[in-house]
Amino acid sequence: MDSNFDVTQRYNAGLRKWDKYGSNFLPAWIAEHDFGSPPAVKERLYDLVSSGTFGYHDQDAKLGEAFSLWSNTRNSLEVNPEMIIPVVTVLQGVAACVEAFSSEGEGILYNTPSYPPFLELPSHSKRRSVEWKMIKSENGWKYDFDSLEEILSEDPQIRILLLCNPHNPTGVVLKENELKQIVNIARKYNLVLVSDEIHSDFIYKESTHIPTLAIDGAEEITVTVTSGAKSFALAGLRCAVVLSGNKNLHEKLLNVPKFLLGGANRMGCEATIASWKTGSGWMDEIVEILEHRRKCLKSRVDNEIPSARMFLPESTFLAWIDLSEFDLGENPAKFLREKTGIAFGNGPDFGTGGEGHIRLTFGTSEDLLNEMINRLGEGLL
Ligand SMILES: Cc1ncc(COP(=O)(O)O)c(C=O)c1O
Repeated sequence: MDSNFDVTQRYNAGLRKWDKYGSNFLPAWIAEHDFGSPPAVKERLYDLVSSGTFGYHDQDAKLGEAFSLWSNTRNSLEVNPEMIIPVVTVLQGVAACVEAFSSEGEGILYNTPSYPPFLELPSHSKRRSVEWKMIKSENGWKYDFDSLEEILSEDPQIRILLLCNPHNPTGVVLKENELKQIVNIARKYNLVLVSDEIHSDFIYKESTHIPTLAIDGAEEITVTVTSGAKSFALAGLRCAVVLSGNKNLHEKLLNVPKFLLGGANRMGCEATIASWKTGSGWMDEIVEILEHRRKCLKSRVDNEIPSARMFLPESTFLAWIDLSEFDLGENPAKFLREKTGIAFGNGPDFGTGGEGHIRLTFGTSEDLLNEMINRLGEGLL
């Protein structure tokens, strides 16, 4: 695994990460790593291109089997491949769940700070956004179970709890006892749990990813949405899966008009299948590299920018950094982009809890990461 790459070539590759702000800026904003995809992906796609078979396709069963293998290998969770529906992206799968399991005017509950598209998704489908705010303690961001019960008892029209496990942007991994509480509370208030597990392959040594569906009693109320897009840098190929815990949920999802489920791209399906079938060792190497990056970033931020506050992420290749001591205004990322030439994610875009924060994508080469930290430190002086 070569974690170095040709930066010039990246700027000219038509990738949103590199092109949005152009070659005068280092990109640390979007959640995409720079380590490419496993070799089996290119091999499979080369074969497909040379066969020239680009008609309507049917990869559903193979995708289901490959995901089932991956889930078993990585998380010891047996899943029924027949409960899987391919979709185009994770966000689209979440939108399909909103359509299937709630009605206009009903509430969709999610944690803030939040992956920004979740903030908008409910209102686009005429549902209501309801925040379950995370709280920041001395040791890091936490789920607040007292407030969860309060929110649900005051608003009986909440239908869906949209979980992000592991959590973007904080990198927090839900513990087994927390997931159990969530499942119990969700059952008590008749919620459907939609569990976005797109970051679940990036788990560091001290943590374990527990799929929501692994919790007793979760099958009847849980739908997991995930993909290989983050793990294998396949986001442009457009393929994700929605996995229902039982037949009843699956059938409700199948009632969503087929054209709204998108129809995943053949290339994306084949790339994802190749990754899930052969990419476990490759993934371990990526996590090992990221382990070094996150520790290097944390120790350099602590030592060189002591007024910045960063908790070690338990998962993801995203660092959620509190710069509120620096008074960078309403758009800390814009301020820093102009000052440092680095494009960070802008904390306030993540809703409540994002004020004064930036999100830094550390899934890159050691050299680029060090350059980013150097420039961030100088820019904050
Ligand atoms: C939590 C989470 N869900 C979904 C997505 C987007 O995935 P997709 O492009 O498949 O919709 C991202 C991307 O950053 C994400 O962080």
